[in-house]
Amino acid sequence: MKISVIGCGYLGAVHAASLASVGHDVVGVDIDAAKVESLSNGRSPIYEPELPELLRAGLESGRLRFSADMSDVNGATVHFIAVGTPQRLGSSSADLTYVDQAFADLMPYLAEGDIVVGKSTVPVGTAQRHVGNVQERGAHLVWNPEFLREGFAVKDTIEPDRLVYGVADGDEYAVETLNEVYATAIEAGSPVIVSDFATAELVKVAANAFLATKISFINAMAEIAEVTGADVTKLADAIGHDKRIGRKFLNAGVGFGGGCLPKDIRAFTARAEELGRGESVAFLKEVDAINLRRRERVVELVTEELGGSVFQKKVAVLGLAFKPNSDDVRDSPALDVAVRLNGLGANVVATDPQAMQNSRRLHPQLVYGTTEEALADADAVVVVTEWPEYKELDPAEVHRVVRTPIVIDARNCLDADAWADAGWEYAGLGRQV
Ligand code: UGA
Repeated sequence: MKISVIGCGYLGAVHAASLASVGHDVVGVDIDAAKVESLSNGRSPIYEPELPELLRAGLESGRLRFSADMSDVNGATVHFIAVGTPQRLGSSSADLTYVDQAFADLMPYLAEGDIVVGKSTVPVGTAQRHVGNVQERGAHLVWNPEFLREGFAVKDTIEPDRLVYGVADGDEYAVETLNEVYATAIEAGSPVIVSDFATAELVKVAANAFLATKISFINAMAEIAEVTGADVTKLADAIGHDKRIGRKFLNAGVGFGGGCLPKDIRAFTARAEELGRGESVAFLKEVDAINLRRRERVVELVTEELGGSVFQKKVAVLGLAFKPNSDDVRDSPALDVAVRLNGLGANVVATDPQAMQNSRRLHPQLVYGTTEEALADADAVVVVTEWPEYKELDPAEVHRVVRTPIVIDARNCLDADAWADAGWEYAGLGRQV
């Protein structure tokens, strides 16, 4: 099928390359000429495993191309809208400028029978605002949220856990067309859930709100564990054995970040308030507050471990990305901790396998270095992103290069006993060792 993808950021670039890999003819359109140029040369503007290979294969096959010219959507019959919906400056609601602009730019090229598919994460009610204009052109609108995780984006796109289509009045034609687009995933077993627009839009934010709540729940337990001497990791293992609860997303630590969970729960709260149902999701404000408290707690722990002040102490901050296998530092707890320690006068040397360039752009005042440079003569080591290379550090070897063997494991990802046995003062979150 001939498909266009409007917006070639995280979501759009992965979506375009994945659709080409399953045999469709795809053009990705973006207003950012530099991004288009980079993608056209097979260079991924983001760090995402498997994406560079997929891009190159798509470009070589001739089934994938990128353009900065909207008229290149001509000829495609299915148009995905995959632009960003960031948090509005100075507010907690979502900024829909890019979504509204993408619809407006696409309108002149829509032909009768075309399908417009919204993939962006939007406040409930957005599809309903646009459906009239799309239908006036004889085209169809579907809301088809995306659930990909950074670091697993290609896999999540090609083999999604589920596909959700929000359609107008049981629009059979739109459902059948999307089934063709996703034939490979459906044959491989991905279930399809067809709903109205509002449900489809809500599925996305409800899923992210649930995940964020699960993380903040275990982090709240960590706060209680800290004053009772309990161990939150054992608690998570124990409650996780209950199949109704499950162990996933119960890792206590410095909390969630990234371009989705934090902004989505805030935008959801703002939208619910607009709809007069603020009280229904008021708990999400608490979820957000617990999450932000964890960052402060890490800074507090470092300060306590250093005898009450971090001033002029060298602190090695291992990790800047919001999670491993990513170079994304949007709302990253790790970067936030580095910035706060630096602000308190610590001599921070921060490091990350992939996210230093993005961090430097946002916070040029921080000192960045290699893992070795960060660890050399450090008064304290803080692990804030659980990259495999940090989990695999040999505590005995690291002991030899630091000034004081103090480690703060802000992701509870290290083998606490091994570090303690090697002579380290180990501090985790929500656990005493
Ligand atoms: C999240 C959702 O998991 C995806 O399903 C969704 O499609 C995506 O947002 C989106 O809306 O686009 P992502 O932001 O890539 O995906 O990252 P997650 O793997 O969900 O992790 C989010 C944050 O939670 C990270 O900072 C991670 O370190 C933290 N986390 C996760 C914890 O602190 N504890 C856990 O147990 C799990």
